Amino acid sequence: MLINRTRRLRGSEILRRMIRETRLSCDALIYPLFVREGKNIEEELPSLPGQIRYSPDTLAKGIDAALNAGVHSFLLFGIPEIKDEKGSGAYNENGVIQQALKNVKKTFAEDAYIATDVCMCEYTLSGHCGLIHNGNVDNDATLPLLAQTALSHAVFGSDMVAPSAMMDGAALAIRDTLDAKGFKDTPIMSYAAKYASAFYGPFREAAGSTPQFGDRKSYQMDYHNSKEALKRIELDIEEGADIIIVKPAIPCLDIISQTSQQIKLPIAAYSVSGEYAMVKAAAASGFIDEYKIMCESSVAVFRAGANILITYFAKELAAAIKKGDIG
Ligand code: PBG
Repeated sequence: MLINRTRRLRGSEILRRMIRETRLSCDALIYPLFVREGKNIEEELPSLPGQIRYSPDTLAKGIDAALNAGVHSFLLFGIPEIKDEKGSGAYNENGVIQQALKNVKKTFAEDAYIATDVCMCEYTLSGHCGLIHNGNVDNDATLPLLAQTALSHAVFGSDMVAPSAMMDGAALAIRDTLDAKGFKDTPIMSYAAKYASAFYGPFREAAGSTPQFGDRKSYQMDYHNSKEALKRIELDIEEGADIIIVKPAIPCLDIISQTSQQIKLPIAAYSVSGEYAMVKAAAASGFIDEYKIMCESSVAVFRAGANILITYFAKELAAAIKKGDIG
């Protein structure tokens, strides 16, 4: 009898799992962690329930907990004690990320893969991702500082640098500097397609990086556009990016999908702070089932074509994968 093929294939749980098109692995998860300058800090972040901000001396605890859950990869964000006009905390050899790397690299050696965010917004007085000249972000003046920041992370053992400032030419400036200083093998995971998004709100609170004036629309992308995203991704690849980040994740499933069909490099989707906070808040109000929503939205990101997922739910997702609820 002529019946819908998919009906025959849905009858058994074993069969349903056999024919799954999307497979998830804990290996594809990256867990973002916030590190604040200071000592003995382990504070829960009000804007990101369940996420903890560490200091360089306590960060190992956060990494350890994630390793135990089956997550091996991390993305570190630093919050300095003092901000200045030139964002010098980003590339200072005693900066918060540099201190954090010094501490955790020797503890975890090969067990943890540690990527570091390369941006100015946490370190500048303006809260902007680049230097300010005459009231505007100066793209070109920012490039050497981003390159210096990436180099300093590499020197202190960062496994991969992740430039997120959306300055034109950042990937190239960083690649040239890393190559010249003996870090030819350090990959760049570039935030190539990053939209000017209200979904970053809780992050800015957690990282202390809210712009003090204006917005980020002059350097982050307009969410009406998708060709622009593909163009920026092409440019970043030409400049030497090794992994491409698309963010936010759920509002950009179309971009992830188009990108995965067009490029031949791994794509990381960043499920950002607002996506996480929304799920947490709605679940806390009893409107949705947090676990099921987490599973469904994460699978959707991989189904769209992402190879890697950066998510605050990394530990819980790893548990769901291990349990067999997804993947
Ligand atoms: C900044 C940066 C941001 C995020 C990652 N890197 C915020 C921004 O652009 O304002 C957002 C991540 C999140 O919301 O989880 N360089």
